[in-house]
Amino acid sequence: MKSIWLTENQEGFQTNWMGNPMRTDIVIIGAGMFGITTAHYLTEAGADVLVLDKSGIGRMTTGHTTAKITSQHGLLYQYLLEKYGVDFAKEYFEANEESIQEIEGIVQAYQIDCDFERQDHTMFTKSANEKRKIVEEVRAMKQFTSQVEKVTKTELPFEIELGITVKDQAQFHPIRYLRGLAKNILEKGNKIILDTTCYDLKKEKDGYRIQTQKGEVLAKKVVLASHYPFIKYPGLYFFKMYQSSSYVIAFDPKKDIFSGMYLQVEEPKFSFRSAIDSDGKRILILGGAGHKTGKSVTDQMTYEQLKQEVQQEFPEAEIRYWWSTRDCITLDKLPYIGQFSNLLPNVYIGTGFNKWGMTTSNLAARIVSDEILEKKNRHQHLFLATRMQPIENREEVKNILAQSVKSLVVQRVKPSQLRVEDLANGEGGIVQLQGKKVGVYRDENGKIYAVKPVCTHLGCLLNWNGADKTWDCPCHGSRYRFDGKNLYDPAMKDLETISVKEEKEQE
Ligand code: FES
Repeated sequence: MKSIWLTENQEGFQTNWMGNPMRTDIVIIGAGMFGITTAHYLTEAGADVLVLDKSGIGRMTTGHTTAKITSQHGLLYQYLLEKYGVDFAKEYFEANEESIQEIEGIVQAYQIDCDFERQDHTMFTKSANEKRKIVEEVRAMKQFTSQVEKVTKTELPFEIELGITVKDQAQFHPIRYLRGLAKNILEKGNKIILDTTCYDLKKEKDGYRIQTQKGEVLAKKVVLASHYPFIKYPGLYFFKMYQSSSYVIAFDPKKDIFSGMYLQVEEPKFSFRSAIDSDGKRILILGGAGHKTGKSVTDQMTYEQLKQEVQQEFPEAEIRYWWSTRDCITLDKLPYIGQFSNLLPNVYIGTGFNKWGMTTSNLAARIVSDEILEKKNRHQHLFLATRMQPIENREEVKNILAQSVKSLVVQRVKPSQLRVEDLANGEGGIVQLQGKKVGVYRDENGKIYAVKPVCTHLGCLLNWNGADKTWDCPCHGSRYRFDGKNLYDPAMKDLETISVKEEKEQE
C-alpha cells in the first residue's frame, strides 16, 4: 500500500534539534498542507517559526489525499444558501477561489515543479432520482457566480444523467508543492523538525511549553496543524467532529485519459482525476468506498470495490498504487479556523476540512497567519473555531455520544466469540483470552501480534480494519498499526502489547 504522492525521497528538508528547551516565537505542530502553508506566510512576513511533525512533510493526511484544489465541496452551496443566506455562500465560494489563485501564485512565484494545472471540477449523477439536487445546486450557485454550468455529457467513460461543472479549478502534486514551500522556509532561516511527536502543551506566563519526544519547546504562539487536535480539554473538538475514511487507487487505464476532475453525487461517491506518476506517465486516480473511521471493514468492502469499478470501465487497467485516507468532518459542514479556545490565548487551529483540505488549508493558513500577525482577514468570521453551532446538529451529536457509550461501555463488557485459532493468516480481530479482550493479528506467515485493543485517547474499544491491517477507533478516529504503533491522532500513544503465548500457557 503506497500513495502515488509519497514515492519520492524526502531527505534534506529538516533542521536538527538545537538546545533544550528550543525557543521560538511561533511553533506549528504539523507539517501537512495547513502547517507548512502557515509557516510559509509567516516566514514571508519575517516571523520566527519552528515547524514540528511526528512524521515527515505531508506524510500523513496531505500525502494520502486525491489533491484536488476546488471550490466545489460536494453539493454544498444550496445548503449554505438555505442555512446562512446568499452573502455567506458567495463569500465561502470567493474565499476558496482566492485559495486556488493563491496556490497558483505561489507555484509561479517560487517556481515549484508540482504538476499544477487548471481543470474543471464536476459533480455528476448516474441516477435520475438525484437530478433535482444538481438542478437546485446550479440554481443556488448561479446567484453569485457565472463560473458554473449544468452538463449532460462529460469525458468520463460512461453516461451521466446530469452534472454541475465549476470551471477553472485545479489539481497538483501536493508533496512536491509542500517541499517547494519547505525549501523556501528553511532558506529564509526558519526551522522544520521532523520525526518528533508532541505530547503535551502547558500554558506559562509568557507563552507555552510543549513537550516532545526530543525535548521541550518554548513558544509565544502555537498553531495546532496536526489534522485532529491532540489537546482534549479545553476545545472539546471530539464533540464537534468525527473522522471519515476512504480508499484510493491509481492506475494506468491503458487507454485515452480524460481531462477534468469528477465526483459522484450518490453512493458509492467515486472521485476521479488524472495525475502524473514518478515515471512521468499520466495515469488515473479513483477514490471512494468511504465510511466512518473505526467501522470494521474488509478488503472486499474497500479496495476491491474500487478495483471492480476500474475493471468495469477500464478492463485492461494496471493498478499501480493504492492507499487510504481519512478526513475530519464537522457537524455544520464548515471548517474550524482561528483561535483554538477562548481559554487558551494565542493557540490557533485549522481542522475539519470536510475532505477539501487542499483548498481550505490554504484558506486556513491565510486566516491564521493574519491573526498571528494581527492583520484583518475578511473571511475570518465564516469559520470561527470556537463557535458552538455545530452541536445544534442533534442527530450527529447523538450519534457521537451513542458510539462513545457503545465503545466505552457496552462493547468492552460484551465477551468476544472469536478465538485465536479462528484467525487464518492475514486476519485480525478481537478475541477472548482469560476473560479479557485481546486484539490479535496473525500475519501472512502465521506470526501473532497481540495488543490491548483500547484506544489511548479516551479508552474506546478498537475495531479491526482488515483492508489496511490497522486497529481503528470508532469514537474519534485514532488509528494504530497491527502491532499497536500509533499512526493517527488524536491518540498520541501506542497500544500496550500482549504476549499471547504466555496468556495461552496460563490458561
Ligand atoms: Fe478518542 Fe479513540 S480516538 S477514544
